[in-house]
Amino acid sequence: MEFEELLQARYSVRAFLEKPVSPEVLDAVLDEARHCASWSNTRGYVLAVATGERLERIRADYLRIWDESLGLRRGQPLAFVKAVWRGKLPSADFKTWREYPPELRARQVANGKRFYKHLGIERGDREAREAQQRDNLKLFGAPVGIFVFVHQKMLPFSAQDAGVMLGTLMLSAANRGLGTLAIGTLATWRSPVDQEFEIPKDYAMITGLALGYPDADAPINAYRAEHPPLTLARPRQ
Ligand SMILES: Cc1cc2nc3c(=O)[nH]c(=O)nc-3n(C[C@H](O)[C@H](O)[C@H](O)COP(=O)(O)O)c2cc1C
Repeated sequence: MEFEELLQARYSVRAFLEKPVSPEVLDAVLDEARHCASWSNTRGYVLAVATGERLERIRADYLRIWDESLGLRRGQPLAFVKAVWRGKLPSADFKTWREYPPELRARQVANGKRFYKHLGIERGDREAREAQQRDNLKLFGAPVGIFVFVHQKMLPFSAQDAGVMLGTLMLSAANRGLGTLAIGTLATWRSPVDQEFEIPKDYAMITGLALGYPDADAPINAYRAEHPPLTLARPRQ
């Protein structure tokens, strides 16, 4: 693919075909993703790559946790106390539910409005919105789940490195006709991944990533987020 074409081919895919990704193709993508820059070449990240039954167990666990946390997410009275009591608070290393600074919140809201409009979901339709959000926990049906951990003692550089690597991985995948979606929502709970992988000490989960063949007929995959120009600081006069 030409570079311009490749940039357009990479977008956030939110519906995947059941078609598996062969181990050879998956290995090739992971191999290409290593060709990226990193802080002093430290590459302070670890990937947990799940397919097949292992991924199905992770998916099922995420869905169970998501459904159990309904009260917390809806801010129901006493839900927090109950969650503490039952040991069911999010097992996140980083707070994914933090408040956004106002100028960034405005961008999030604008994108959210466009996205839900594309899906035909009304603002007040809580059930439809929650059903859409729940699909994150299913990794949108992707046959490969990648969970990204960064070294806590090298933050923020390890997180920056992971981002650079993921950008390379996404383009490598797109070049092979694969789709990707970074799913930060998954980092709200790391226990489903801990049950399936030995994560080295000091590594914190920063995001999940879904990988697979895009379902070209799914309307959700026709959504394209706006890509405004990069924000440049004004030179001093
Ligand atoms: C680290 C990271 C985490 C993300 N988490 C989610 C997520 O949990 N759910 C989701 O639908 N999209 C998620 N996204 C996708 C972004 O919303 C998307 O990249 C952005 O809107 C731009 O759209 P594009 O990727 O199609 O260009 C995430 C993206 C990144 C980089």
